[in-house]
Amino acid sequence: MTETSTPADAKTTRRIELREQIGELVREHFELLPEPSPDESPLSMPLYGPEEVNGALECLLEQQVTMGSRVAAFERQFADFMGSKHAIMVNSGSSANLIAISVLCQQAVKNGLRPGDEVIVPAVTWSTTIAPILQLGCVPVLVDIDEQTLNLRPESIEEAASDRTKAIMPVHLLGNPVDMEPLMDAARERDMWVIEDTCESLGSEIGGKKVGSFGHFGTFSFYFSHHITTIEGGMVVTDDQQLADLARSLRAHGWSRDMSNRPEIEAANPHVDPYFLFVNVGYNLRPMESQAAFGAVQLRRLHEFNEQRRANALILGTALERYSDHLRLVSEQQGGRSTWFGFSVILEDAETRARLRDHLEARKIATRPIVAGNLAQQPAFRDNPHRVVGSLSTATSIGERGLFIGNHPNLTPAHLEHIVTAFDDFFS
Ligand SMILES: Cc1ncc(COP(=O)(O)O)c(C=O)c1O
Repeated sequence: MTETSTPADAKTTRRIELREQIGELVREHFELLPEPSPDESPLSMPLYGPEEVNGALECLLEQQVTMGSRVAAFERQFADFMGSKHAIMVNSGSSANLIAISVLCQQAVKNGLRPGDEVIVPAVTWSTTIAPILQLGCVPVLVDIDEQTLNLRPESIEEAASDRTKAIMPVHLLGNPVDMEPLMDAARERDMWVIEDTCESLGSEIGGKKVGSFGHFGTFSFYFSHHITTIEGGMVVTDDQQLADLARSLRAHGWSRDMSNRPEIEAANPHVDPYFLFVNVGYNLRPMESQAAFGAVQLRRLHEFNEQRRANALILGTALERYSDHLRLVSEQQGGRSTWFGFSVILEDAETRARLRDHLEARKIATRPIVAGNLAQQPAFRDNPHRVVGSLSTATSIGERGLFIGNHPNLTPAHLEHIVTAFDDFFS
């Protein structure tokens, strides 16, 4: 200890030393992890390392755990990456969709969604694209997907819209961008809200612009297997100050604390202690500091991750093209850059799909259906108010004949060879 240093300084110095030692131990631990077996191809593999874990540990050790400065910093980083004015972090992609729909249902939003209003969604997507529409008393209108890209088509707006249709949720399925320019034109013509569910497509582009940045809202998931992970987590982006303020309020109990117009709200409610001033009927969907610490590191690695996903998809696509008499691959949207969330094939019929699935699973290549098939057939949506446009025959057939295998940045050339060999064995 120097003459001027105090016992408190000595404790701080020791704490910093200990943290450095813990950091070293974490790094060593990761170096000693076994290499993933090339004979097994799971749907996803952990994509985080010592930097993420040390970031999260720092939050715990410093006892800064609930939403705070790290979440704010990650939101800024994410908004800059997206070229969006505002980013609001939440605890999952499902919460991101719930917040977006809830905001549009607020009375304060001019021409917002009201109970009974319709929202167009593709029939092939995740359940929690559609669930918030029903939870908020609106009606999902399910449209079919394109056979080649597996995405909804911009023309669906014309085909599906009624007087009650106020919004559309294009879903960039499996990394493939929806053709957003014509979709935005058609939505503008009908004065429709656009919420881009980008939970499967962080970093994908169309016409050189990132998907999730076209609509009034873009929503993202950072679930374990997604393009970046905060283990669980999500984000909403928007360019609109009012929508951002409402999202921040609904995320945290409906209070005014995180709203940019807080001074005016407080002045209008002088009888309420501004510490707990509730202005909206909110939720608690807040993320934790440790999740933001993870996300900050992961976002810096996203470009590298996505390039690897694209390279893997190219290798698999090129190798499997020789079986084009028996299976079909998903086409990348024209003018777009897919980030290939998984790798999907569509077989001739359900029976071949079942045989291929068993064949791959026996070789420890994990498979699943393409998302969850035609959601109009699922009890949760079949048995609740909804409208269907056309026969949804492509969605049904993709559900019966489609097969998804994992594509992630940790796949090595040996994994890819194992997968291609399994297809070769099946078709020979
Ligand atoms: C299209 C789509 N929307 C929403 C979600 C929900 O995200 P989360 O799992 O983070 O709640 C998912 C999850 O995979 C998804 O694929």
